[in-house]
Amino acid sequence: MRALVVGGGTMAAGIAACLSAAGIDTVVQVRRASVVDEVRAEIARRGAGRPVSVVAGEPGGPFTLAVESIAEDAGAKRDVLARAEALLAEDGIVTTNTSSLRLADLTGELARPERFAGWHWFNPAELVPLVEVVGGPRTAPETLERLTALSERVGKRPVTVRRDVPGFIANRLQYALLREAYALVEAGVCDVADVDRAVVDGLGPRWAAIGPFTTMDAAGLEVHEAVAGQLFPVLSRQTDVPELLQQARERGETGMKGGAGLCGTYGPDAVRQLTRRRDAILALLTEAPANEAPVNEAPVNDEGGSR
Ligand SMILES: NC(=O)c1ccc[n+]([C@@H]2O[C@H](COP(=O)([O-])OP(=O)(O)OC[C@H]3O[C@@H](n4cnc5c(N)ncnc54)[C@H](O)[C@@H]3O)[C@@H](O)[C@H]2O)c1
Repeated sequence: MRALVVGGGTMAAGIAACLSAAGIDTVVQVRRASVVDEVRAEIARRGAGRPVSVVAGEPGGPFTLAVESIAEDAGAKRDVLARAEALLAEDGIVTTNTSSLRLADLTGELARPERFAGWHWFNPAELVPLVEVVGGPRTAPETLERLTALSERVGKRPVTVRRDVPGFIANRLQYALLREAYALVEAGVCDVADVDRAVVDGLGPRWAAIGPFTTMDAAGLEVHEAVAGQLFPVLSRQTDVPELLQQARERGETGMKGGAGLCGTYGPDAVRQLTRRRDAILALLTEAPANEAPVNEAPVNDEGGSR
């Protein structure tokens, strides 16, 4: 199997490392020759296992799989996807790692939209187990099945997103939580450090072990129902970008990469330490068995029979 990854950034490097580590012959296409060595080194640092070919010109072909992971720009992505599709073998699949664009907006230039799907990875791609396999308006079911099998082959735990909704599954969940977090801080209920503590020490470990729905089954659905009835009406429904975020942006803050963000300032040591901690914990989770559904047992209907 031969794979083409287009892009020279954070995600492309992690994805290429993962594919290569799984024994897939991987070529990475970048825009400028000046970054070839740097990207090759970054892919190796992320555990590629064997050398990955990084090219600034034509990558050759044919490829069985193409992964577009360039900047989040619909026009540029459409162009890259069409070029990548032209390099595919007869039954090749072309995918996009877009986080926020509609697949419908990226399908236009493709000759075989039935072999095009979203394949959404999470940073750092070589460590986070989840990938989302996303069907576009014309994706064939067989393409989704092949991409799901391929995800497993490269050591990932895929979920299928049946409809092309903005943010897919995981980002929608993350942003729902962030909206409430901003609302709590802006209302003076707690500060940003308290929110991070509540997730790192409470929700995060629990959800890493068993997901939110399983957690509610463990809590008891009568309790869940009562709490949902109290809390859902009072949760934030804010649709504007939060003031706290706007203020940080007005101060020119960009987060860790610029040395200041929502949680204060970051020196190089702090960034290294936080990255090390995150990667060490993610590595453990990657090794842990997947959060599988309980084996008891088909759902039971009102008459006590299975359905
Ligand atoms: N960073 C994340 O956490 C994350 C997570 C999941 C998905 N994504 C998605 O992955 C994609 C890449 O994100 P990233 O974080 O790696 O970005 P990045 O800024 O690190 O890298 C983007 C790369 O794309 C290249 N590029 C831009 N325009 C191009 C073009 N026209 N042709 C070829 N190369 C081009 C740039 O040179 C750069 O190397 C985006 O669609 C993003 O939404 C990002």
